[in-house]
Amino acid sequence: MKIVSGIRPTGVLHIGNYFGAIQNWLTLQGNAECLFFMADLHALTTDQGQDIQKSTYDTAALYLACGIKPGSIFIQSHIQEHTELAWILACHTSMGWLNRMTQFKEKASNKEKANLGLYAYPTLMAADVLLYDATHVPVGEDQKQHVELARDIAISMNSKYKHDIFTVPEPMIQKMGARIMSLRHADQKMGKSNASDYERINLLDSDELIIEKVKKATSDSFPTLPETMNELEDRPAVKNLYTIYAMSMKFTMEQTVKYFEGKNFAFLKKELSDALINVVGPIREKAKTYQEDRASVTKVLEEGREKAQIKASKMVKGIKDILKL
Ligand code: TRP
Repeated sequence: MKIVSGIRPTGVLHIGNYFGAIQNWLTLQGNAECLFFMADLHALTTDQGQDIQKSTYDTAALYLACGIKPGSIFIQSHIQEHTELAWILACHTSMGWLNRMTQFKEKASNKEKANLGLYAYPTLMAADVLLYDATHVPVGEDQKQHVELARDIAISMNSKYKHDIFTVPEPMIQKMGARIMSLRHADQKMGKSNASDYERINLLDSDELIIEKVKKATSDSFPTLPETMNELEDRPAVKNLYTIYAMSMKFTMEQTVKYFEGKNFAFLKKELSDALINVVGPIREKAKTYQEDRASVTKVLEEGREKAQIKASKMVKGIKDILKL
């Protein structure tokens, strides 16, 4: 197995990223060759003029604090082959395929004004994974379509040039916790771009802020907590809190429902903030140490760059030969 995945550095990572992606990466890195990068070129599709570099370093510090191994972390824009391969892939991607991408439709409310980078986003993402022969790409549900596009491009180019140029990657979608929802709107994903900071728990939040955010999280108007899994299904806000609790405690949902049976909302919130503090506290403290020691993060990123560069150069050279460039 070869694993490649990335996160757009567009703000501080939150527990949605942790439970939905990073925790899964930690398990994978014990069993497979892994590369995890900061997709700063993808951040540029939206965060122009903002300090992408700061977010990139903060993200790297958090990756390390979470336990991602140093040798596997690098910055996308450090490896020029990402953009080079993206162009080559773009020349083999039909507009019809790109027009089907739902994320573009959601992000670009005005198609005339949307930038070309946003439209071509999935071809850059395809380059990210095809460049390193990824066999599996752990992503959230919302990115599955992009990995499928990478597969389509890989299959079609392999067949067109009669060469196994690319490994065809599989999306890897984690079941539980893949969709942690906003603490205020249970129908929206917890995201770095939610309107209010109270909608998410960031991995750098203080204990006090976690307690306050959990206190203010919306629950629902039922008088008691659900007693069965079925009942929980109809109560999205509470289900989200239970999911976060279950992920924090490494409980199943069944165990969580049992644990809170007959208890009240105040108890749930107290337990939930305690559980979150136990997860976030140590990560935050370690990340702070890395943030203060920028030189050591730079060194890690340099090490990651060297490793990735060797693979990327080799891949692009091979493709250029095949394509007669
Ligand atoms: N598009 C992904 C997201 O928004 C981030 C990303 C960029 C990515 N390149 C990738 C994820 C390659 C997996 C593999 O979440």
